[in-house]
Amino acid sequence: MCGIVGYIGNEDVKETILSGLEKLEYRGYDSAGIAILNGNGLHIYKDKGRISHLREIVDFSINGTLGIGHTRWATHGKPNQINSHPHQSSTKRFTLVHNGIIENEEELIIEHLSDATFESDTDTEAIAQLIQKFSDEGNSTDRAIRYTLGLLEGSYALAIIDNENPEVIYAAKNKSPLLLGKGNGFNMIGSDAMAMIHHTNEFFELQDKEYAIITRQDIAIYNLQGRKIERETYFGELDATDIEKGTYPHYMIKEIDEQPFVIRRLIAAYQDEHGNLKVDSDILNQIRECDRIFIIACGTSYHAGMVGKFLFERITKKPTEIHISSEFVYNTPIISEKPLFVFISQSGETADSRAVLVKVKQMGYPTIAMTNVKGSTLYRETDYQLLLHAGPEIAVASTKAYTAQIAVLAIVACAASDSCNFNMLSELSIVANVMEALCDNRELYNELAKEFLTDKKSCFYIGRHVDYYTCLEAALKLKEISYIQTEGFAAGELKHGTIALIENCTPVIAIITQEQINLNTRSNIREVRARGAAVITMSLKRISSEKDQIVIDNVHEFLTPLVTAIPAQYLSYYAALQRGCDIDKPRNLAKSVTVE
Ligand code: AGP
Repeated sequence: MCGIVGYIGNEDVKETILSGLEKLEYRGYDSAGIAILNGNGLHIYKDKGRISHLREIVDFSINGTLGIGHTRWATHGKPNQINSHPHQSSTKRFTLVHNGIIENEEELIIEHLSDATFESDTDTEAIAQLIQKFSDEGNSTDRAIRYTLGLLEGSYALAIIDNENPEVIYAAKNKSPLLLGKGNGFNMIGSDAMAMIHHTNEFFELQDKEYAIITRQDIAIYNLQGRKIERETYFGELDATDIEKGTYPHYMIKEIDEQPFVIRRLIAAYQDEHGNLKVDSDILNQIRECDRIFIIACGTSYHAGMVGKFLFERITKKPTEIHISSEFVYNTPIISEKPLFVFISQSGETADSRAVLVKVKQMGYPTIAMTNVKGSTLYRETDYQLLLHAGPEIAVASTKAYTAQIAVLAIVACAASDSCNFNMLSELSIVANVMEALCDNRELYNELAKEFLTDKKSCFYIGRHVDYYTCLEAALKLKEISYIQTEGFAAGELKHGTIALIENCTPVIAIITQEQINLNTRSNIREVRARGAAVITMSLKRISSEKDQIVIDNVHEFLTPLVTAIPAQYLSYYAALQRGCDIDKPRNLAKSVTVE
């Protein structure tokens, strides 16, 4: 998704904006640009390509203390120089960057801008032209912006410069993420805290249909009617060191390695001084009083939700459904009398999930966000929140957030149950130790990836029971960073059609952790081997056979998805590495999908 950085202060703005944009690269983008306002006017540098390319075209002799920058993930108009942001109004007085989609752009152009000329194919340019129009009609910049915002339908996060007022940057937000950073003698705008963390850790939330007037000394927030809104700042959880790669070549392998420590952090975060589970009692009451839990999520979070369904039903005996966010909105199932909605989202900004939240809130149902980002949209707009404490996850491929989600689901299920017959926290401590041993064994996965995956075009993960959920997640990991077409399959389903795709040397990775389906899955292994498949078997030690290539130390049967994820993550990492893929920023993908 697009990234926005803005700065107004007393220091030269170029490096602050450019390095801020670099901290947002993980969101995925195809072009970048920066605008700097100084006594000699406005200077814009923008082009298709990476920020490293933008650095080459910026004139570093130009200095200024007010600027905005943008990384674009193309939605309207292909990635090229003209469509890159910033965009300007026809007189070049107003310059802005935008994250989101204006859904009524065409109607606005017909109704208000029929005689305007446009340079780009973007919806963003229409916003600049509208501000210009209302300004030309004699309105102040403040009013011109508010009138424009009042006409926009859809999502936007905006940073706006008025050439004729070098003391102010304007910001506005609706649905797309935007944070305001409070500094000492300077203030900032950012799509998230990471863009600003090297300058400030104190932020103002900007909520939907609000806008801000930002000077070097002050941040003033208003609603679209121009009424000032008093709001307290908050301090983010981020630490600048959290978002550095350190000695790692990629964020993804750093984040895979962090998982044992994340689990240990969660054990501490959800434990009271007596060593018992500590979960917000209101949340536990909601779980106990509802008649059905609806888990809503996308992608990897959806796969964590599948394990969550299993855990809630096994441990709390509560009927639980799991739904893909983008399906639920338009294909809404029958909802029970007393539902509880649980939104699982690493970023807390996924537009598909937020769309469901808006819908179920209108229905008056209770909502819980399980997210890694405090202050994110889903965090702010739900009734209750459960943090993942996984630390910033920067690689597009989600790893530590996935296992953190499962761990928190397990903790909450156990805490809500009056018959949980095992000590979840001590079982999770065992999981952390097993994870650590798996991370230490990474060379094995490198060798297996080289032997079985790197030069292949397709791959299958097969499993049953909770192993099937891991197969879906493992398949997503492999395909999204190595671009190998991979399917996660219920092993018992293979014979109903898909086994037709198995041919000589087709890689099949079988995952077996549950006693009751051990022999069944092993017979599926024999079926695919008989058709020429090259099989990797991943099993739990207590049911392993001597030929299994990946054997995982024993953990509680309910918690095996936490450990089987690790080898799968490494296999995808090494396959992608050997294939020369852009591991942290895979093609076409964004870390946080903030458009529907
Ligand atoms: C997972 O590796 C992907 N990056 C993607 O599927 C992601 O899980 C999905 O977009 C949901 O994101 P969220 O957890 O931030 O809502």
